[in-house]
Amino acid sequence: MTAPMLPRRYRVTENCRENADTRTLSLAPVDEPLPRFASGQFTMVYVFGVGEIPLSVSGSPLVRDQTLVHTVRAVGAVSAALCRAEPGTVIGVRGPFGTSWDVGRSRGRDLLFIAGGIGLAPLRPALLEALASRRDYGLVSVVAGAKTPPEHLFGVEDECWRANGVAVLRTVDRRQTDPCTGLPRPWTGSTGLVTEVLPRVRLRPGRTTAYLCGPEAMMTHTGAALIRLGLRPEDIELSLERNMRCGAGLCGHCQLGPDFVCLDGPVTTYDHAEPLLAVPEL
Ligand SMILES: Cc1cc2nc3c(=O)[nH]c(=O)nc-3n(C[C@H](O)[C@H](O)[C@H](O)COP(=O)(O)OP(=O)(O)OC[C@H]3O[C@@H](n4cnc5c(N)ncnc54)[C@H](O)[C@@H]3O)c2cc1C
Ligand code: FES
Repeated sequence: MTAPMLPRRYRVTENCRENADTRTLSLAPVDEPLPRFASGQFTMVYVFGVGEIPLSVSGSPLVRDQTLVHTVRAVGAVSAALCRAEPGTVIGVRGPFGTSWDVGRSRGRDLLFIAGGIGLAPLRPALLEALASRRDYGLVSVVAGAKTPPEHLFGVEDECWRANGVAVLRTVDRRQTDPCTGLPRPWTGSTGLVTEVLPRVRLRPGRTTAYLCGPEAMMTHTGAALIRLGLRPEDIELSLERNMRCGAGLCGHCQLGPDFVCLDGPVTTYDHAEPLLAVPEL
């Protein structure tokens, strides 16, 4: 067994409800902590007796107390077990793995974060990193899409983001109807796909770097829409997902064409990813 395959023990210190199926877990090291992570990287999180899954880090890369933060949506056995994990539960964590958002390279430029659903979690570290040196960046915008209003993540942070000069635009595929009155429930955000609300974002294409994370179809359509609005493909970064086992380039489970997503990704540029994603079943 090589070192990247050995999980370190972490203890759940907080389990915060984000919405009906999503929790944010804070983890404190029991053993020697893992090396520092960069925004966009992921870890392999092991629930003893259940299994192991890849999860992007959703906390700030700048924290000094060695806490790891992950936001997880319950879709199956391991993710559901994590969502149920009470404070005090000990789990295993390996990593950090993979490539990162290149926020540092974009100093002096405008930043546009575009998320679909749980995709806001892997983007959050990059946003927090930029906000920590806000004056180094121009316009900073967040466009977050979700199916319905309660599915939006980190809504309580909007006020703080706005106070730091972030333009936050939240949108839903559909509003919810009140079962008693039959009327639409109050919603102050937009309605429509992220691609439909993009024209409402103040965009300076030549000086903007865009960061996308969400379902694959959302990222390919959003990337194409940004290019139509004048962004260069190499100024669009996105985070890919593939089935993973080792997370460390050893098993080949995450292969996408010539890439191992755990090594060459998850973060890559649109010009690199788009031709690969265009091949069905690759
Ligand atoms: C690099 C990377 C980062 C990730 N970051 C996060 C994160 O921050 N938060 C989070 O909630 N999830 C994240 N995921 C997805 C997460 O790993 C899967 O939801 C998890 O593996 C599901 O495992 P399970 O045992 O709970 O469910 P399973 O029983 O394995 O799967 C349940 C259902 O989910 C589907 N599914 C499984 N894996 C994926 C996947 N990768 N993408 C889409 N559908 C899938 C299956 O087809 C099945 O229908 C990430 C995945 C990758 C590759
Ligand atoms: S998950 Fe094993 S090589 Fe990528």
